Amino acid sequence: MKKALMLAAALATASSALAAGKLEIFSWWSGDEGPALQALIKVFQAKYPGVAVDNATVSGGAGTNAKAVLKTRMLGGTPPDSFQVHAGQELIGTWVVANRMEDLTPLFKSEGWSKAFPKDLITLISSKGGIWSVPVNVHRSNVMWYNPAKLKSWGVTAPKTWPEFLTTCTKLKAKGVAAPLVVGENWTQQHLWENVMIGTLGAAGWEQLWNGKLKFTDPKVVAGFTTFGKVMDCANKDASGLSWQQASDRIADGTSAFNIMGDWAAGYFTTTKKLAPNTGFGWAVAPGTAKTFVMLADSFGLPKGAKNRAEAMNWLKVLGSKAGQDAFNPLKGSIAARLDSDLSKYNTYSKSAAADWKQSRIVGSLVHGAVAPESFTSAFGAVIDQFVASRDAKAATAAAAQLAAKAGIK
Ligand code: GAL
Repeated sequence: MKKALMLAAALATASSALAAGKLEIFSWWSGDEGPALQALIKVFQAKYPGVAVDNATVSGGAGTNAKAVLKTRMLGGTPPDSFQVHAGQELIGTWVVANRMEDLTPLFKSEGWSKAFPKDLITLISSKGGIWSVPVNVHRSNVMWYNPAKLKSWGVTAPKTWPEFLTTCTKLKAKGVAAPLVVGENWTQQHLWENVMIGTLGAAGWEQLWNGKLKFTDPKVVAGFTTFGKVMDCANKDASGLSWQQASDRIADGTSAFNIMGDWAAGYFTTTKKLAPNTGFGWAVAPGTAKTFVMLADSFGLPKGAKNRAEAMNWLKVLGSKAGQDAFNPLKGSIAARLDSDLSKYNTYSKSAAADWKQSRIVGSLVHGAVAPESFTSAFGAVIDQFVASRDAKAATAAAAQLAAKAGIK
């Protein structure tokens, strides 16, 4: 009898340890990018206190390093339990077509999420009759950041078009500002490129580039590259060695006048640098993109073969919840992907982004995975590098056209 009781007790301990479980969350949100994710994990842990969370990060802005590590793990059959992936083609054209993800439609049904998220966002994460990830946020890519006091002292304002930007750049150079624009490593140059291109082609032209109606070799795209070259002439010469945070620092300290970056920069200015919106940092819509919201969304999916599937499902539930999103986004600089978030928790910058999200024409970001598969985006970095070195717009557009054909963009 005693033996039986002991056995029962041992079994109970074992099963509660089992229920406690583990969870590996994979992302590139380390260091300065970490606080928002940590806040979300805190919400998860309050609900599931026994679960040991492995917050596995591979540092590097825009996931340049993390995506390579993820690829090795996915192809090697050791996927994380849940991983960060951009909504759109990065998810669909990479992992869904390869049949590596679980369909989350049942989760969307049980959580009532088909009404909680904007329809278009659900479309972006859907294909082949399935829904493939849970979006945690919406970031805006087309923002120009500046230091209000410095702009005032230089007597300039945020330019509204790229030609106006070039005039402002000349003015600033004449005042002794060596690099009116600050830009960082390769992906931030791609980020700048997409903003120059959208500001040149317009939202409709940008969409046509990704549905194949506008060819990369079109004279309008060649002209966009030429403008991008002139814009790069206004930038710092040590770009390739700077992270996006180091580029943002040069706005905060007033070394450069402008930086084009997604609104994780707002998260960095407020959460890390403790700067106040409108005084510590200012913002304007990127030149030529008024009334357009260039979007991207960070989402998390459930790979087939996840070791801790049940915990991963609970993680996704927290990530898609109102409490989870309103803990994460005010620190991150993004707005909630959900429609019912509590805006009183957000700062002035984020409130303005939330208003624009409702009123603007929405297009997807290239660099951050919305419009093209990873195979295109990762190879496009070399096109930008070559262009920055050679300034040969025709060669760049020919190379991009080849990549587009290879990626099936037609
Ligand atoms: C983006 C990502 C953002 C932010 C940024 C900088 O691709 O969607 O959440 O992390 O990279 O690393």
